[in-house]
Amino acid sequence: MPPGFNIAIDGPAGSGKSTVARKLAQKLGLLYVDTGAMYRAVTYLVLKSGIDPADESAVTAFTQGLRFSLVRFLPKGVVDLWCNGEEVTPYLREPEVSRRVAEIAALRGVREHLVRCQRLFARKGGVVMEGRDIGTVVLPDSEYKFFLTAAPDVRLARREKELLADGRHFTKEELRREMNYRDEMDLKREIAPLKPASDAVVIDCTSLTVEEVVAKMLRICRGV
Ligand code: CDP
Ligand code: CDP
Repeated sequence: MPPGFNIAIDGPAGSGKSTVARKLAQKLGLLYVDTGAMYRAVTYLVLKSGIDPADESAVTAFTQGLRFSLVRFLPKGVVDLWCNGEEVTPYLREPEVSRRVAEIAALRGVREHLVRCQRLFARKGGVVMEGRDIGTVVLPDSEYKFFLTAAPDVRLARREKELLADGRHFTKEELRREMNYRDEMDLKREIAPLKPASDAVVIDCTSLTVEEVVAKMLRICRGV
């Protein structure tokens, strides 16, 4: 593998990006960057400040004042996101954040600021970054690019299991609606829509375990 390489991973909600990216980063000793967490952090802080998420200029001005940092807890490879000195990780999966994030992520000013911050995290190489536009927009020159997919029902069932294990209360119908809405918004938005980069390796994870997906990616990165 070339020195200072980056790995870009994109895909729809529940395709396994975070889990796989975290494990891959651990195995390769790289920094794991969850860009969805950054869009969720903006959404959480906008809602907390009482700004109307539909007020584009207010949301953009607010976002431009946000500074992000990643705190890595070794050896487990856990990374916490901090924003303007506040730890935001515990709030990012709140239902209202999940409901509003795609709307905020569609705003040009928000994306421009976050993309700048994401490129700073990756400027020296050595990151596994996952999201929706990493291979296409944020790090188009990254050495390895993957696009994960899985059947919608499998993605829904996996996310449901994850949220239940986390003690969250919701109905399956609510979750289905929220994931479908976000996927639609992410696919159809004008700026940086969800799509595979032309040189990305597409992996269908419908019937693969996390370990199988990670092993496949490692083989590709190592050229074996
Ligand atoms: O974990 P899940 O795949 O459900 O979502 P996430 O990765 O936490 O991303 C939350 C939302 O942030 C997505 O639905 C997108 O609207 C937005 N996002 C984005 O627009 N661009 C990225 N690079 C990452 C996330
Ligand atoms: O980040 P993204 O929304 O793409 O998905 P995730 O949060 O990494 O994965 C959603 C759930 O599916 C997690 O609980 C994973 O452990 C699980 N998963 C799985 O069972 N098999 C895979 N091949 C990938 C993920």
